[in-house]
Amino acid sequence: MTMLNYHVEAGGQLAGALQVPGDKSISHRAVMFAALAEGTSEITGFLSGEDCLCTMRAFRAMGVEIEQLSATHLRVHGVGLYGLKAPATALDLGNSGTSMRLMSGLLSGQKFASELIGDASLSRRPMRRIVEPLRQMGAQIETTPAGTAPLRIVPATKLSAISYASPVASAQVKSGLLLAGLYAEGITEVREPGISRDHTERMLRAFGVKVESGAGVAALAGGQRLHAADVAVPADISSAAFFMVGAAIVPGSELLLRGVGINPTRDGIIEILRRMGVAIELRNLRDVGGEPVADLLVRAPSQLRAIDIGHDLVTLAIDEMPAVFIAAACAQGTTVITGAEELRVKESDRIAAMCDGLEALGIAALAQPDGARITGGSLRGGTVDSHGDHRIAMSFAIAALRAQAPLTILDCANVDTSFPGFVELAGGAGLKISADPQS
Ligand code: S3P
Repeated sequence: MTMLNYHVEAGGQLAGALQVPGDKSISHRAVMFAALAEGTSEITGFLSGEDCLCTMRAFRAMGVEIEQLSATHLRVHGVGLYGLKAPATALDLGNSGTSMRLMSGLLSGQKFASELIGDASLSRRPMRRIVEPLRQMGAQIETTPAGTAPLRIVPATKLSAISYASPVASAQVKSGLLLAGLYAEGITEVREPGISRDHTERMLRAFGVKVESGAGVAALAGGQRLHAADVAVPADISSAAFFMVGAAIVPGSELLLRGVGINPTRDGIIEILRRMGVAIELRNLRDVGGEPVADLLVRAPSQLRAIDIGHDLVTLAIDEMPAVFIAAACAQGTTVITGAEELRVKESDRIAAMCDGLEALGIAALAQPDGARITGGSLRGGTVDSHGDHRIAMSFAIAALRAQAPLTILDCANVDTSFPGFVELAGGAGLKISADPQS
């Protein structure tokens, strides 16, 4: 099997202005909601990464015509809430937890059976968190005995709305239940112990669905139809985060990131870096289809400082935490991260993957069940394993800016799931990176 490794020379500086690809969470939802809508929707700024392409292929396999006019421009011919067709084979959702958890809800409401499968990483991730409440709604859905994919769904006699208090704050669970709720009788309500991203609520409204939401709660009535709407997807703050950290860790850096989505349920990375001493200016603030967007001007301090990062801030920056570990490794003092146990069930165990990698580079990074204690220091060069996790791979690639010697990062092909073109974009901005296929 061919494995893609990154080789990154030590040092350098990021500079200039750039735009990272479209938001992954928003791109998934745009395809799904446009497919379920009545009429034709155009999606621009679509993330043509493997995860979102899995969602696109799954809807095509259920009879939805989706024209790909360019890498980032889709025209979706919606089939309406009841217009999906039975797929001929299992729907392969690759590495994508968002596709699997949202679609398990949506498919629970269909009159046909379906099977959802994924790669080795996705097949290890917890699915009971969505399957159990779906069963409470009447869904007929099976997992493996370990509560993992494959998921087998057969048509339910009927779905009934529930008011569900979720033990985890998870946008994927909330969204899966709201999508099932469209097919249920009554008002489906999801309450959560913290804040999760609210793209589903915002975009369903743009498609004409009435959604009630407030702090930690979202609800909708079943049977509401979606009406076609055009979606302009902002640049993904989770992808921008690698460049924000890359600029933050090299004194003297100044970098402009254009058109980044700064939804308040996703903007924790801005607050974290500011507290560490980074100057981040939000320019040209605007609203794009119900999502706040800005250009971010990031300026490095002469020295980053260590901070404490607790659960509330972690939830607003959950996908950016691997990059935060790198900022912490370059800061003065010990950064203490707590309340971050969800990192252990992402595409890899991100606490273990980041602490192991940082230790291999000579940084004291002590893993805790729910976080880590990272003491800033000098990064040696060497080899780290990304464990096939896109965000681990990109975090260590950026770390090379502050390393004493080159870094080799193993198993990086999955960067394409969320950030196609990363090597080229990062290279253009000043990172001395190459991708080397190894047999
Ligand atoms: C996502 C929600 C988050 C996030 C994931 C994408 C989404 O997970 O980590 O990368 O698009 O809904 P949770 O379901 O744990 O909130």
